[in-house]
Amino acid sequence: MTVTNQPPSTEPFATPLDVLLDRVEKDMQDDLVPAEIFNNEDIFRAEMERIFTTTWVFVAHESEIPNPGDFVQRKIGLDPVIVTRDGKGGINVMSNYCRHRGTQVCQTDAGNSRFFTCPYHGWTYANDGKLVGTPLMHRAYGTPLDRDEWGLKKAAKVDTRNGFVFAALSDDVPPLDEWLGGAGWMLDVITKLHPAGMRVAGPPERYMVNGDWKTAAENFAGDVYHLPTLHASIQEIEMIEGLQGTCEIGRTYEFENGHTFIGHAWTEAIGPFFTHWGYGALEGYSEHFDLSGFDDTQKFVAEHQPPTVGTIFPNLSFIRIFSPLPDGPPGVFTSFRQWQPVAPGKFELWNWQFVWNFQDEESAQRDYVGGQYCFGSAGVYEQDDTVAWEGVQRAAASPWMRKEGMKFNYQQGNNSPVDQAPDPEWTGPGIHRNTGYGEHVQFNFLRQWLRTMKGDRA
Ligand code: FES
Ligand code: FE
Repeated sequence: MTVTNQPPSTEPFATPLDVLLDRVEKDMQDDLVPAEIFNNEDIFRAEMERIFTTTWVFVAHESEIPNPGDFVQRKIGLDPVIVTRDGKGGINVMSNYCRHRGTQVCQTDAGNSRFFTCPYHGWTYANDGKLVGTPLMHRAYGTPLDRDEWGLKKAAKVDTRNGFVFAALSDDVPPLDEWLGGAGWMLDVITKLHPAGMRVAGPPERYMVNGDWKTAAENFAGDVYHLPTLHASIQEIEMIEGLQGTCEIGRTYEFENGHTFIGHAWTEAIGPFFTHWGYGALEGYSEHFDLSGFDDTQKFVAEHQPPTVGTIFPNLSFIRIFSPLPDGPPGVFTSFRQWQPVAPGKFELWNWQFVWNFQDEESAQRDYVGGQYCFGSAGVYEQDDTVAWEGVQRAAASPWMRKEGMKFNYQQGNNSPVDQAPDPEWTGPGIHRNTGYGEHVQFNFLRQWLRTMKGDRA
C-alpha cells in the first residue's frame, strides 16, 4: 500500500474536470492559463453543456429575415436551429430536430417557407414550430397529435437588440439588455450612428479553421499586441502604417459578463479630421450621422476612440476599420463574426459584412469589398490570424507540452511601466483603460468562461 502525505481531498466527488477548472482558477490568479483548456475533448463537451445551453447566443440579424416566412438555419453550440419570421411578424428560434425521430426538418441555409416538412416520414411543422401535419395521420395515429405538444422545441428565450437576434436555451438567464449591459451600450455606438441602422450585406461567408473557438474570441476581445508582428506584411505593402504604435493608442473597454471591446484613439494618432473610425475623413458618411440619441460618453467614444474589435460572450465578435483599397477610394467596413465550435480544436468561422441602410449601392459595395479584402476567407488580415490560431490548438494538444504542464503567459500587465489602471475619469459603463497593453480584455473574457464553466454565472 502506498502512503502519501497528501491531505485528504475535501471534495471526494470532484470530477477530473472540476479538478482541472480549479487548477485553471488558481493559475489565472498568477496570470497564467493552462494550455489544456484549448483543444481538449472534456473541456469542449463541458463548454457545449455548460456555456452554450445556459447563456444568450447570437443567432441572426433581423435584416436576414425581413419578411414573413423568411428563415435561416443557424447553430447554438453544436445544435442546428431554425430562425424564422412567422406570419405574425414574430421571430422564432426552433430546434432543427424532428420530434418523430430527430431528422433535420430544414435542410437549407436560408429561404422562405410557411412550412418545414421532415424528409424522413413527412411530419410537417409551421414556421412558428407547431406540428401541422402527419402523413397517413388517421391510419397511423387515430386521433391527431397535439400541435403544440409535438411541435419543434423552441429556445426558452428570444430577444433582440438593434436587430441582433439572441436566443437562450435556458429560462434561467437575465433579460437580454441586462446580460449585454455595457456591451449593449457599445452596440448602440457601433450600429446607431444613423437612425435607419445597418443590415447584412449578404449571407455569412463560412470557413473551417483548425483552432479553438476561444482563441478567436479572445483575439477579438482585444489582442492588439499581435498587430505589428503577425500583420507586418500589411504594413510592408503600404496598405497601413504605424502598426508599432497600436498598443500605445489602444483603449480598452471591459464590461460585465465577459463582454469586451478595444478601440483606438484615431483622432489623437492620425489627426482631428479622422473622427468616427475614419468616416470623418471620407465623403458620404458622417454628414448622414445623427448622434443625438447618444449620451456624452458615447459621443466621445464614437468620435475619438471608437471600438475596433470586440467580443460579446461567448462567440460573437465585431470589427470595424478604415480600409484603404488597392483600387478606388477607401471605405470603412463593419463585420460581425461568430466562432462556431465544431469539435475540439476546430471551429467554423461565420463572417457577415454589414452596411448602412442609408448608403447607396456603390458605397455599400465598396465597404463590402473592403471587408472581404481585409477579413474575408482570403482577406489579408484573416489569413494571418487563422494560421497563428492553429498553432495554439496544436501546442495545446501536444503530448510533450501536456507532460510539461504547459501554461500560456498572460503576465503582460505585471511589470509593465505603462499605466494600465482603470481610467478614474471614465464616465461610461464598465472599466476603461487608456492603453492596449495588459491583456486585461482577454482575461475579462476568460474569467467569464471560467465562471460559466463552474456554474457560477453571477
Ligand atoms: Fe421526421 Fe420521422 S423523423 S417524420
Ligand atoms: Fe489579427
